[in-house]
Amino acid sequence: MKTNEIREKYLEFFRGKDHTICPSDVLVPRWDKTVIFTPAGMNQFKDHFLGKVELEFTRATTCQKCLRTGDIENVGRTAYHHTFFEMLGNFSFGDYFKKDAIAWAWEFLTEKKWMGLDPNRLTITVYKDDDEAANIWTNDVGIEPGRVTREDEDENFWPASAPSQGPDGVCGPCSEIYYTPDDGKPVEIWNLVFTQFNRVGDPPNNLEPLPSKNIDTGMGLERIAATMQGVTTNYHIDTLLPIVQAAGEICHTKYDPEGDSGRRLRRITDHVRACTFCIHENVFPGAKKDEYVVKRLLRRAVLDGHQLGMREPFLCDLVPAVIEQMKEPYPELAQTSELVSNVIRKEEQNFFDSIDDGIERVSGILSTIKSSGGPSFDGETAATLYTTHGIPPELVETLGEKESVEFDWPGFDQAMKRHGEESNKLPVAVMGSFGPIDEIQTELKSTPFVGYEYTNFESVIGGLVSEDQSRSDVIKPFDANSSDSEEDEKQSEPKKQIVFLKESPFYSESGGQVGDQGTIISESGKFRVEDTQRVGDCILHIGEVTEGQLNVGQTVNAQVDTDRRNSIRRAHSATHVLHYALQKHLGTHAQQRGSKVAEDWLRFDFSNLEPVAADVLEKIEQDSNQRVQDAQPIDARTLPLADAREQGAMMLFGEKYPDPVRMVSMGDFSKELCGGTHLDN
Ligand code: SER
Repeated sequence: MKTNEIREKYLEFFRGKDHTICPSDVLVPRWDKTVIFTPAGMNQFKDHFLGKVELEFTRATTCQKCLRTGDIENVGRTAYHHTFFEMLGNFSFGDYFKKDAIAWAWEFLTEKKWMGLDPNRLTITVYKDDDEAANIWTNDVGIEPGRVTREDEDENFWPASAPSQGPDGVCGPCSEIYYTPDDGKPVEIWNLVFTQFNRVGDPPNNLEPLPSKNIDTGMGLERIAATMQGVTTNYHIDTLLPIVQAAGEICHTKYDPEGDSGRRLRRITDHVRACTFCIHENVFPGAKKDEYVVKRLLRRAVLDGHQLGMREPFLCDLVPAVIEQMKEPYPELAQTSELVSNVIRKEEQNFFDSIDDGIERVSGILSTIKSSGGPSFDGETAATLYTTHGIPPELVETLGEKESVEFDWPGFDQAMKRHGEESNKLPVAVMGSFGPIDEIQTELKSTPFVGYEYTNFESVIGGLVSEDQSRSDVIKPFDANSSDSEEDEKQSEPKKQIVFLKESPFYSESGGQVGDQGTIISESGKFRVEDTQRVGDCILHIGEVTEGQLNVGQTVNAQVDTDRRNSIRRAHSATHVLHYALQKHLGTHAQQRGSKVAEDWLRFDFSNLEPVAADVLEKIEQDSNQRVQDAQPIDARTLPLADAREQGAMMLFGEKYPDPVRMVSMGDFSKELCGGTHLDN
């Protein structure tokens, strides 16, 4: 059965069980500060699991684009490791629980109409204390007890080892389904997580039952495809083998699955596929976070090519093969094919230019290490090579491998931190902890924003958080006497009070636009709003009581500082003008990567492969200024996403837009999807 067919069947099966099919979230979820890449299907549903948002449905199913780098060293070496992969999943938010999740997983895997796998080849693991799951498998599904084994929290809890080691937040025992192929070694194909606890602090008694229990399952698409297609590694499935073979052709190397070349070609395949998806989402190779990961993946793949004799860019020529295999589920990839190839070519060329010099330096150091009998290449030296000569650690590692000299990754990471660079380790998935803000958010669910129409609005206080960050019914001015010693105060950030309103005219920081400031006044007191932020759909007014006191339930007048708001409006509309001019003079690849819109100033980050030439910069300036002087009308409307697309609104790959969506148009030259506050012309 083809991979594309498995994906379709999975979603279709769960649609038949009343699940809403949701699109994959983006690979680089900029909305989520706790991860760099989407690590699992559940990531887009964190707030659903925690009950923090209004639920439009209680059952969902997805095929999610994921990227994990925790096991990067195994990619290519083992049969099943990837960086980029797709994860099939079904989710319940306080709806069905273990019984249905287990029964449906079994039905999907074993029924002829679906996967039709031989039930005798399937075995099960459950968490050691989870009698409920074990009983469902043996009594309801009818599996012999000997084929259901119990494992501890390292294996059968998600996140792994959460009870003893954290992180705090939502977690639960899981049950894994294994398939034993002809060669006899069981392979995990599906993980059913029973999200039933909120972890609070260290053991004992740190697992609080959740009020509503959830299901989060994950099945790697490549693994189930390998199982269905009877191949011994994911890299031989119908959508990956052609890329491996194309890599072999481009590198003039025969693919030998068991040999060194096989390992290298598989790694090239994985990394170029991952980079194609990242660059498509506008993440170019660079020095920080997601960009650094792309750079690292590209360099590792180039090094493999170098070891196979390549001396010129070649990865860029593999992009069409990747797109050919992935375009059925992701047709949008075809639109950025040229850009992706160009970005890869440029990075490859830079790297090839420095490889030979790098090899010479590293070889010199390696022979000294060998002659002195040293066991490993120390991280500090590697970090200096990287920061002063641009020699990447991967090159050192690869050359060291040949000489049996280990690479000191932890030492390298530490040294890089001292050099002020990002560590290359990514955080594991974080589910979110539960504090007073989350509690209020769970009750209120959302704060409707009325600030497009009003800057002065009568509302009601829905929740308060005092300066010691606990929930409170009343807040008063900070008590100067109770503050810590002067020394402590200097060290710790001053804590702020937070007001939640039922509706608010205050714009919370988002899309680069800073949060509003202003005043909230009740009959008994005054609160100065210094910043406005958002958690989920709730607006947080952050600042302090300056007079009297505020009480939960009081009617208040919420007044935005309108002079400041107007300055921000000017800057935000200027951002759209600039974006238009950049795209016109540099090309449509010059897309927004980030921005800061504040009081009469803005910063706008965009992608471009080289510095902007002075004459082009001048044209961009002239064009922008001309548009400002033209003073064409600005119009903002909310409309269905499909209509906005139809009308030619600029859509950025790697952004996930709500539907309906707000579209800001300026005259006839700019249409952007944007939630910000803008001028009238
Ligand atoms: N979150 C679980 C995993 O990633 C199941 O989807 O394995």
